Amino acid sequence: MKKVLMIAATSAFLVSGFVATEAVAGAEKKCKACHNFSAKGKVGPGLLGVFGRKAGTSGFKKHSKALKNADWVWDEEHLRAWICNSKKAVKEFTGNPKAKTKMPPQKLCGEKGDEVIAFLKNLK
Ligand code: HEC
Repeated sequence: MKKVLMIAATSAFLVSGFVATEAVAGAEKKCKACHNFSAKGKVGPGLLGVFGRKAGTSGFKKHSKALKNADWVWDEEHLRAWICNSKKAVKEFTGNPKAKTKMPPQKLCGEKGDEVIAFLKNLK
C-alpha cells in the first residue's frame, strides 16, 4: 500500500514538473533562434514591446513586403494566428492569397500559442 502511494506521488510530481517547464521554456526557446526579446533585430525583428504595436514598425530593415505594408496591430487575435501558422496568417491579414512572410510557421497553436503571447506581453 505504501509503495503504491509513493509511485502515485512521484508520477504526479513528474507530470506537473514536465508541463510547467515544457510550456514556457520550450515555446520561448523556439523564437530565440531568430528573435531577440530586446529591441534589437536578429534574423527577425526585436520582440520587445511587440504586443500592441503596429506590425512591421520596429525599425527592422529586412521585412517582407507584406510586413512593410502591414495595417494590423499585434493584438492577441493576430499573434495567436501568427505563432500558429505565419504563412497562412499573412494571407488572411493582408487579404492577398499570394502574400508571403519570411517567418516560417512555428506550429505553436492553441494553449502553447497563448503561453507565448503571455510571455511577450510581460517583456520589459
Ligand atoms: C526561423 C526564424 C524565426 C523563428 C524561429 C521565429 N520567427 Fe518571428 N519572424 C521571423 C522573421 C524573418 C520575421 C520578419 C517577417 C517578415 O518581415 O515577413 C518575423 C516576424 C515576427 C513578428 C512580427 C514583428 C513585427 O514587428 O511586426 C512577430 C510578432 C514574431 N515574428 C513572433 C515570433 C514568435 C513569438 C516566435 C516564437 C514562437 C517566432 N517569431 C519565431 C523569423 C522567425
